[in-house]
Parts: sequence; structure tokens; C-alpha cells
Amino acid sequence: MATTTTLLLLCAAAVLLAPSTTTTAAAADDGYTTFKLYFHDIVGGTSPTAIRVAQAPSSNSSSTFFGAVVAIDDPLTSGPTRSSGDELGRAQGTYTFADQKTFGLLMLMNFVFTAGDHNGSSLAIVGRNEVLDDVREMSIVGGTGKFRMARGYVQAHTIDSGATSGETVVQYTVNVKA
Ligand SMILES: *[C@@H]1O[C@H](CO)[C@@H](O)[C@H](O)[C@H]1NC(C)=O
Ligand SMILES: *[C@@H]1O[C@H](CO)[C@@H](O)[C@H](O)[C@H]1NC(C)=O
Repeated sequence: MATTTTLLLLCAAAVLLAPSTTTTAAAADDGYTTFKLYFHDIVGGTSPTAIRVAQAPSSNSSSTFFGAVVAIDDPLTSGPTRSSGDELGRAQGTYTFADQKTFGLLMLMNFVFTAGDHNGSSLAIVGRNEVLDDVREMSIVGGTGKFRMARGYVQAHTIDSGATSGETVVQYTVNVKA
């Protein structure tokens, strides 16, 4: 008797769950726009796009540069090299060396689009960027233009550390819903 009741309840639960699970999956895919951009953080050469603007007296003796703040106006291109891709906009803002144990940056930046499909719009991005990790996820907390009220996330993956060139190249995959 107890077994029959349990079975009936399980069947009822399965019937109830099946459609809502499908709906949730469909809704999760719905409305996201996904695209890739390449972010160029140029710290060397005659025209750097990333400059250290503040630091603590102890930042230089910290193995993780803790307390240093860098202002950026970094090109965002459609291809992995600046010559192979069109410039679609700039990443403007700051990153702070925010971790005393590893290279963990607090990124606070706008992606400002000046060409391409999203010209005239922007995305506001905030998050932790643990630069030695293969993939780092950060939040899209808002936007303007076609991205007004945007939510979503970006995933950053370094394709050139810039150790020799002074130019770090990071692929950003943007997943945004506006
Ligand atoms: C820290 O290091 C940077 C880069 O080498 C240098 O420009 C700066 O003067 C140093 N700052 C201090 C306080 O030693
Ligand atoms: C981007 O939009 C601005 C303002 O509408 C326009 O002047 C400019 O030509 C556009 N740039 C490109 C590359 O489409």
C-alpha cells in the first residue's frame, strides 16, 4: 500500500517536473547574444594602453603587486592580433591587484563599442580575474544603448601572456542578455 502510494506520488511528480524542466532549459538559452572579442593590454612600448596610476608603498615588495591600480584604455578587436582584426571598441576602466596570495585582479571596466554590430552601445563589467587561471568568469552588471539593463557574463582566456612583447592578449567570450 505504502509502495503503491509512493509510486503514484513519484509518477505525479515526474509528470509535473517534466514540462517545467523543459521550459527552464529553453528559457536559459533564450535571448543570450554570444560573441568573442580580443582584449589587448599594452604595458610596454611608446604607446601603452595600461598604466599604473596608484600603489601602496608595499606594492613593489609584494609578490602579487597587492594594492597597485592600473588604468586601461585597451583596444578590443575582432581578431586575435591588432593587425588581423578590426578595432570594435575599447575596454576602459581600472584593474586593481586585489589578492595578497595570487595574481587576482578586480576588473572594473566598460566595453565601449565604436564599430561593428554593437557600435554606440556599452557593457559594464565587474569581477575577479585570477589571471593564471585558464578561464575566468566575470559579471556583466549593466549596459547602455542596445545593452540597456543588460545582464550576463564574460569568460576571459589569455592567448598571449605578453611576457616578451609587453602586450597581453585575452580572448573574451561575451554572453549577454538585454
Ligand atoms: C615600483 O616599481 C615600478 C616599476 O618598476 C617603479 O616605476 C616605481 O617607481 C616603484 N615604486 C616604488 C615606490 O618603489
Ligand atoms: C559608429 O557609430 C557612430 C555614431 O552613429 C558613427 O558616426 C560611426 O561612423 C560608426 N562607426 C562605424 C565604424 O560604423
